[in-house]
Amino acid sequence: MIELKSPSQIVTMRRAGRILAEVLEALVPAVRPGVTTQALDDLAREAMVRRGGRPAFQGYRGYPSSICTSVNDEVVHGIPSRRKLSEGDIIGIDAGVVLEGYYADSAVTVAVGDVRPQVRELLRTTEEALAEGIAQAQPGKHLSDISHAIQKKAESRGFSVVRDFVGHGIGSQLHEAPQIPNYGAPGKGPLLKAGMCLAIEPMVNAGRWPVKVLEDGWTAVTQDGSWSAHFEHTVAVTESGPEILTEWPKKNPSK
Ligand code: MF3
Ligand code: CO
Repeated sequence: MIELKSPSQIVTMRRAGRILAEVLEALVPAVRPGVTTQALDDLAREAMVRRGGRPAFQGYRGYPSSICTSVNDEVVHGIPSRRKLSEGDIIGIDAGVVLEGYYADSAVTVAVGDVRPQVRELLRTTEEALAEGIAQAQPGKHLSDISHAIQKKAESRGFSVVRDFVGHGIGSQLHEAPQIPNYGAPGKGPLLKAGMCLAIEPMVNAGRWPVKVLEDGWTAVTQDGSWSAHFEHTVAVTESGPEILTEWPKKNPSK
């Protein structure tokens, strides 16, 4: 069953989303050669707490950190460490905020300095795939219309979508029904309704889609060693279409 959120629940989720968007936007300038992923984790946690939020991932199923930092061939769930970023790397930063019992979840993949053109194309395509998935989050569409739009965009550029991890409903829990695969035929699954809140999160590999989880029990990497990008927004389905609850302030200065 997919829970429908009331307007007042969505008000709180919008506030959580705004905090998270500000935090991610503020982290990007800190992504530079020589910075450690742990330093980014510290910055993120402080920025969340300063704004009245709490890191949602810390302690979730035993997860040890405030954010996930996934570098190069790491797909998702990389654990912050003393690893230093280098020019030409990419880093996926995935973060969640909980505010007054409601969650927001969002991710971005950032280039460290100059990256190869094919890598730039991977980032752009994954971000576009997210946008096209979000555009389907409207009353009257089916859940798999989101999945299909994402897959179509990613594969149109010769990339592949990860099968082992999915997007999800979100609200008073980080992960709620439904699961949202990033691939599939259109027109299947539940009809979307105003009040549904969805975390849509394409993970796109430059090579093939199979992944494996490392010994730490968290870090997912591509099996073929190809690089991977991840973008995520928390979205509310409204009568007038999708509302991105984690939209960055600079993209929407009116909020
Ligand atoms: N965005 C990811 C997800 O929805 C992050 C969860 S990582 C964890 O699954 F640390 F919280 F487990
Ligand atoms: Co998520």
